[in-house]
Amino acid sequence: EKGTYPHYMLKETDEQPFVIRKIMQAYQNDQGELAVDADIVNAVTEADRLYIVACGTSYHAGLVGKQYLEQMANIPVEVHVASEFVYNMPLLSKKPLFIFISQSGETADSRAVLVKVKELGYQALTITNVPGSTLSREADFTLLLHAGPEIAVASTKAYTAQIAVLSILADAAAKKGGIDTGFDLVHELGIVANAMEVLCDGKEEFEQIARDYLSTTRNCFFIGRSVDYYVGLEGALKLKEISYIQAEGFAGGELKHGTIALIEDGTPVIALATQESVNLNIRGNVKEVAARGANTCVISMKGLEQEGDRFVLPAVHELLAPLAAVVPFQLIAYYAALHRDCDVDKPRNLAKSVTVE
Ligand code: F6R
Repeated sequence: EKGTYPHYMLKETDEQPFVIRKIMQAYQNDQGELAVDADIVNAVTEADRLYIVACGTSYHAGLVGKQYLEQMANIPVEVHVASEFVYNMPLLSKKPLFIFISQSGETADSRAVLVKVKELGYQALTITNVPGSTLSREADFTLLLHAGPEIAVASTKAYTAQIAVLSILADAAAKKGGIDTGFDLVHELGIVANAMEVLCDGKEEFEQIARDYLSTTRNCFFIGRSVDYYVGLEGALKLKEISYIQAEGFAGGELKHGTIALIEDGTPVIALATQESVNLNIRGNVKEVAARGANTCVISMKGLEQEGDRFVLPAVHELLAPLAAVVPFQLIAYYAALHRDCDVDKPRNLAKSVTVE
């Protein structure tokens, strides 16, 4: 039930700090450490390459997951859109493990890939919010998201739950491989949950950003580098699907290779800057578009902020920044849709679960 909330999407956005804490509880072992079933950790660490397969928002979570599994656990990862993978399969490694990410566990495009890889005799792990769903039943292993039912068509808490579970899986795989990640995930996820709470408590800020940048525009660009680029893709998808504003996410460095031609006087460009290693580069890209008339809105993170940034996120561990950074994007999309009188929870042409290929 949505209770006092006007929309499920707003309620589900607000639930995210609790979902992170719920996941931490669910994945805690008797020693109070985060842990994943030994069979699953073995399957992950014994694979020579992981193939993450998903659609839409879940695909965007997979992109962040690749970063975790590669950087924390040192395992090579490819991320694929299910509908492409099924008809255009890449050359596979010798010992692949497939990871399906699906909130509903019922997405037909992802299932088609699962059926195919099972026929080929490979192992599969499904990360889903729905125990007993088709993708869970047909895979060898399941990790649950513990996000609670997600009713709004636009996915919010499932995305952050997917990223949190992927971080726990990567951490467990690193431990098993004797790799020191250099940080305490329990501590860092706790900081993330608090940061999400601060963001959800300060919604007016994002309502104002939606008003200032998006009330009349017909398009909008999200730019970022590294994981900020992946979060930008998700920000653009959220905005497209509920506000019908044409929105695209771009890698900051790619702009000059074509996209920058789209920048006109007043074009909104939302830039994310949470990664120290590329902070100066993305700042350079912001200047490039501003010089061509873009209405730039920089969202940075404490410690990396510069004068003129529109919003500064509370500091969280750099790898976990997507968990905090997506919250403003979800809320900006929500308010943009609201201001434009769109049906937030039931956008046109979309169903919650896509059960046809
Ligand atoms: C966007 C959205 C979709 C889903 C996609 C996959 O907000 O919800 O892009 O992420 O249809 O759905 P699942 O995760 O159920 O496989």
